Amino acid sequence: MHSRIREQGWVANLSKFQLIHLCKRFFSSLFARDISVEEFSRVHSILSVNEMDLWKSYQKFDKRHSIVVLNRLNAFMPHAGREVHVAALLHDIGKSDSRLDVFSRVIATIVGPRTGRFSRYHHHEEIGIELLEAAGCSEVTISLLKGIGDPQALAALSDADNI
Ligand SMILES: [Fe+2]
Repeated sequence: MHSRIREQGWVANLSKFQLIHLCKRFFSSLFARDISVEEFSRVHSILSVNEMDLWKSYQKFDKRHSIVVLNRLNAFMPHAGREVHVAALLHDIGKSDSRLDVFSRVIATIVGPRTGRFSRYHHHEEIGIELLEAAGCSEVTISLLKGIGDPQALAALSDADNI
């Protein structure tokens, strides 16, 4: 049954690794803790006014994920600069655009870009770059999120997000 569904192209071809990652993200999103006052202050101290407006548009589980990625980035690269911190906090901002909840994101990942909102979710990286450019984000931050820049920062960001 499962392979027949795949043969008929009803679901995206997800690897075992991707399925495990999807399950982990699903449960961590479902049980995401509220953002504490201290965490909010820390984010506020890093981001500009426009960047903060973007960060506030994250749903709760994306806010939590961004802080987890920031904390992991600091462990991997303790001397990272503000631009790298901003990249960690806003790397998934394009996902906000589709306004999909946790369940819908899982479905969008499994079935692919079938609807307008699912399509926007699948193009979240490009959409995120547009949002960051409109918010006046630094070139360094935007380049890092395009995969261009300091190799150490790029590796630290990738490792930090690889949860
Ligand atoms: Fe992420």
